[in-house]
Amino acid sequence: MGNKWTPLPPARILGIETSCDETAASIVENGRLILSSLVASQVELHAQFGGVFPEVASRQHIRTIYPIVEGALKQAHLDLGEVDAIAVTRGPGLPGSLVVGVNVAKGLALGSGLPIIGINHLEAHVYSAWLTTADAQPSAEPRFPLVVLIVSGGHSELVLMTDHLQYQRLGGTLDDAAGEAFDKVARLLGLSYPGGPSIQKAAEEGNPRTFDLPRAWLEDSWNFSFSGLKTAVLREVRRIQERGRPLPVHDMAASFQAAVVDVLVGKTLRAAETFKARDILVAGGVSANQALRQAFTKQKRFPVHIPPIWLCTDNAAMIAGAGYYRFVHGQQDRADMDVLPNWALG
Ligand code: KG4
Ligand code: ZN
Repeated sequence: MGNKWTPLPPARILGIETSCDETAASIVENGRLILSSLVASQVELHAQFGGVFPEVASRQHIRTIYPIVEGALKQAHLDLGEVDAIAVTRGPGLPGSLVVGVNVAKGLALGSGLPIIGINHLEAHVYSAWLTTADAQPSAEPRFPLVVLIVSGGHSELVLMTDHLQYQRLGGTLDDAAGEAFDKVARLLGLSYPGGPSIQKAAEEGNPRTFDLPRAWLEDSWNFSFSGLKTAVLREVRRIQERGRPLPVHDMAASFQAAVVDVLVGKTLRAAETFKARDILVAGGVSANQALRQAFTKQKRFPVHIPPIWLCTDNAAMIAGAGYYRFVHGQQDRADMDVLPNWALG
C-alpha cells in the first residue's frame, strides 16, 4: 500500500447488491471485517428458464430487498445511524435489477442523511479478496502491483492493479465470458443451471484427457475467447449422438473444464511475469471452481489470493468492501445517480 493510503480512517459501510439474480445486503468494517452478509438467491426461480429472466429478477428484488437490508443491520446489531455510508452496485448488470438496489439505497440515504456511493460490480469482485470474518485465520492483504483475473457469468477480465482503485485493463473475453461458457456447455450436456457447479460436479468423475479440446491462446494479446471451445464441444456431442452412442458427460465436462482452466491460469501467470506483479488475485463466480483454484494454488511462482467460495459468487460484502475504499478516497455520489448497465472497470 502506498503512503497516501495509510493510515486509513475507520468506517462501517452498508453494501447493497441487486445487479443480477442475487438480492444481497451486508455490513463491512474498514473494508475487511464482515459484520453481516445476507444473500437471497433467485437460482431456483430462474432454473425453469435455464438462465436469468430479467423481468422476473427485478420483481423478485423488489420483494426481497427490504427484509434483506433489515436482516443485515439486525445481524450486525446495528442501526442505520451507526453506519457511515451506503454503497450500492451501480453497474454493470441488468438495468431493471440495478434500479431496484440503487433506488432503495437512495431512499435510505435520503431518510438517514448518509452519503451514497455507486460501486462497479467488477471492482467489488476484486475487493472480495480483502474480506475476512472475526473467526477466520488472519490472511495477508494482496500486494501491488497485482494481476487480477475476474471471471464471472458476464465477464472475463485481466487487469493490472497498481494501487487501490487504480486499474489498467490488459484484456478480456472477445466473445463468451468464462462463466457463460460453463453455463452454455452445461446446457449442451443436459446438465442443470447454473452450469459452473454442474460441470464441476460432473467433471469429478471424468477424465480430462478424453477429448483434446482447443485452447485459444491468442498469443499476441491478453484477451480470451471461449466460443471456439464451446463449438468444439458441440461438434463432439453431435458426432457421438449421430453414432447413436451415449454421451460421456463426465469426460466431456472434465475435458472442457481442463481447457478453460489451462488458458485462464496460463495467461494470468504470463501476465504476472510480464508486468512484474508481486501477487495474483482471482475473483468472480468462476473462481469458486475447484479445478481452477487447485491449478492456481499448485503453482509456486506467485502468491495467489482467491476469496473463500461463499464470497466468489455475488454478495453484498464485496460491495461494502469496495465502498469503503471509495468512501475513504472521498467518493460520494449524487441523489440523481443513474444505473450504468455496461459500466467498464476503471
Ligand atoms: O460472479 P457471479 O456470481 O455473477 C456474475 O457477476 O456474473 O458469477 C456467476 C457465474 C455463472 O456463470 C456460474 O456458472 C459460474 O459463475 N460459477 C462457476 C462455479 N460456480 C459458479 N463456474 C465454474 N465452477 C463453479 N464452481
Ligand atoms: Zn458477479
